Amino acid sequence: MKLRYLIFTLLSLCLALTACQSTAPAASSPPAVVVGFSQLGSESGWRIGNTASMEQAAKRWGFGLMLDNANQRQDKQIAAIRSFISYQVDVIVFSPIVETGWDNVLREARQAGIPVILTDRMVDVADDTLYTAYIGADFLAEGRRAGEFLIKKADALGAEHLNIVEITGTEDSTPMRDRQAGFLQAIAGDGRFTVLESITGDFLRSKGRECMRSLLDKYGAAGIDVVYSHNDAMTLGALDVLDEAGIVPGRDIVLISVDGEQAAVDELVKGRINCIVECTPHLGDDVMAQVDALTKGRTIPKTIHPEETVFTEFDDLTGIGPRGY
Ligand code: AHR
Repeated sequence: MKLRYLIFTLLSLCLALTACQSTAPAASSPPAVVVGFSQLGSESGWRIGNTASMEQAAKRWGFGLMLDNANQRQDKQIAAIRSFISYQVDVIVFSPIVETGWDNVLREARQAGIPVILTDRMVDVADDTLYTAYIGADFLAEGRRAGEFLIKKADALGAEHLNIVEITGTEDSTPMRDRQAGFLQAIAGDGRFTVLESITGDFLRSKGRECMRSLLDKYGAAGIDVVYSHNDAMTLGALDVLDEAGIVPGRDIVLISVDGEQAAVDELVKGRINCIVECTPHLGDDVMAQVDALTKGRTIPKTIHPEETVFTEFDDLTGIGPRGY
């Protein structure tokens, strides 16, 4: 046990130096359970809230957490998972930046006898026994909620036709794929809607700005009725551009966003965003509860979705508490 603790401390120090983050405890007793967590990056307020949730939950549960931030690089996530395997952590948890390309490293984890929990995003692998569980949002349902809001909004406007532009998240990521698919499912068959273009903004505020600028250049303010943006960071970037262009967001153009970051909810309350589909980053306790169960030899559910809601201009927004991210 002493050797395990020594290695844990050294490896955590190593990860802290290379990846700039670690929640290795300075405590004198070794943690009974060590979790290796590969976070995909820090691209949004949501992501930062998610990392904090994992760190705080690990502390609450008394687990050692080796945290590596891959800064949006799949190769760095794969390297981090391999380092967790070398150390023989008890459970590997990771948020895959994209869905494909994980088969080999997941096979390595299985050969080492280490269970893998996916959190926040899914993988697309031929053999789904390569991971033990997925704990995160139902992104398809999120996309549907966005589409359902749009139908209600079109009814309220009495609109005959609405042109939509979509600013999507990282290509090949689960939220990008499913938020798009769910939205299209919800509005399918309703002849009032045309999706003019889908453009990728990588979940970044800076890219949300770039996308909005290029969409406005291409279609003009009069050509766009609705912006469907896959996260709040990109929506906030789009708002910057609409403000500069003298377009009144929420009135001249309908804005539909996803996440529920405080900054975006504030804009919703001001009427500058019309709808925010909630995606909660507070997954830490759900993940650690399943880590606990696994390490006690219990079988855990294959899929766990948190409860999520939708905030819209049609609702009473006075009761929304502080979002915490
Ligand atoms: O995977 C969840 C998404 O990733 C969130 O909607 C977004 O803000 C984050 O970057």
